[in-house]
Amino acid sequence: MRILITGGAGFIGSHLADALVNKGHEVTILDNLSTGTKKFIPPQAEFIQMDIRDDKILSIFQTHHFDVIYHEAAQTMVPLSIEKPKFDAEENIIGLLSVLEAARKTNVSKIIFSSSAAIYGDNLHLPLKETEKPEPTSFYGLTKYTTESYLALYHKLFGLNYTVLRYSNVYGPRQGANGEGGVIYLFARALGNKEKITILGNGKQTRDFIYVHDIVSANIAALDKGNEEAFNISTETELSIKDLALQMIQLSNLDESYIQYGPEREGDIFASSLSNQKAKKLLQWQPTVPLQKGLKETLQFFLA
Ligand SMILES: NC(=O)c1ccc[n+]([C@@H]2O[C@H](COP(=O)([O-])OP(=O)(O)OC[C@H]3O[C@@H](n4cnc5c(N)ncnc54)[C@H](O)[C@@H]3O)[C@@H](O)[C@H]2O)c1
Repeated sequence: MRILITGGAGFIGSHLADALVNKGHEVTILDNLSTGTKKFIPPQAEFIQMDIRDDKILSIFQTHHFDVIYHEAAQTMVPLSIEKPKFDAEENIIGLLSVLEAARKTNVSKIIFSSSAAIYGDNLHLPLKETEKPEPTSFYGLTKYTTESYLALYHKLFGLNYTVLRYSNVYGPRQGANGEGGVIYLFARALGNKEKITILGNGKQTRDFIYVHDIVSANIAALDKGNEEAFNISTETELSIKDLALQMIQLSNLDESYIQYGPEREGDIFASSLSNQKAKKLLQWQPTVPLQKGLKETLQFFLA
């Protein structure tokens, strides 16, 4: 298939590009390199340095006749979205519309979208099912949720197929500080430099961390399954930040003196976990990478 990955020079997009290229697909990456980097792009993929909001995107679609679009490009910083909602909407809504318009004008058959646990807001009915009412508490969560509504209407009006994947906290090699799984990046980088790690608050807050390769396999499953559906992509497991810190310290052959505590971050949700039953059933997907293995590979990457 001819596949476009917007944001394919980023953390998740570049791992997805590797997997699609290995499966023999023709992959094009369109990225403005605002947070991504060229060195993550597989040599077999075509790279176009462009902002998704650039009007020239239509001519790229016209010449390439893409079958499927993975839309990964976004501004991903939750606090920044609250500080600068207009910037967030320009990237995540105007940018999306630029991609959707080019897709419908060139008869793309499907778009697969990276949504987020952030659409649910601070909801304690854990593990959260897709049927929970979205109540985002940040503009980032709101633009992700709004995107899902745009996709549904583009399907209704123009027949563009889509699948929404709502990722929990993703971690792994190539991650940057900004994304939603950022704490593992911060811990891995610090431990790699034999520096102390800082837990904000008491460390009892929980997250549902998922390894990037499991995110990639869910995206691949969505190539031919799950049309017009939204799926949580998660491990359905709550891990406390304190337990995460202890495991990472142990894997780094260090001791608890490498943990320090800082003030709680305002606006952080206390607990998070997403049900993955729907994805298991309809996408026939399941997470396969154990936490220890994922953390080991992540630590190795940041040591290198
Ligand atoms: N990392 C997570 O834990 C997580 C969780 C839920 C959802 N997501 C979503 O997954 C997607 C990928 O996230 P990531 O963690 O790989 O982030 P990332 O910052 O590594 O990747 C985003 C990529 O998009 C590019 N980009 C940003 N704005 C662009 C624009 N206007 N035009 C062209 N390219 C642009 C960046 O240069 C970067 O390469 C995002 O949509 C994000 O919201 C990530």
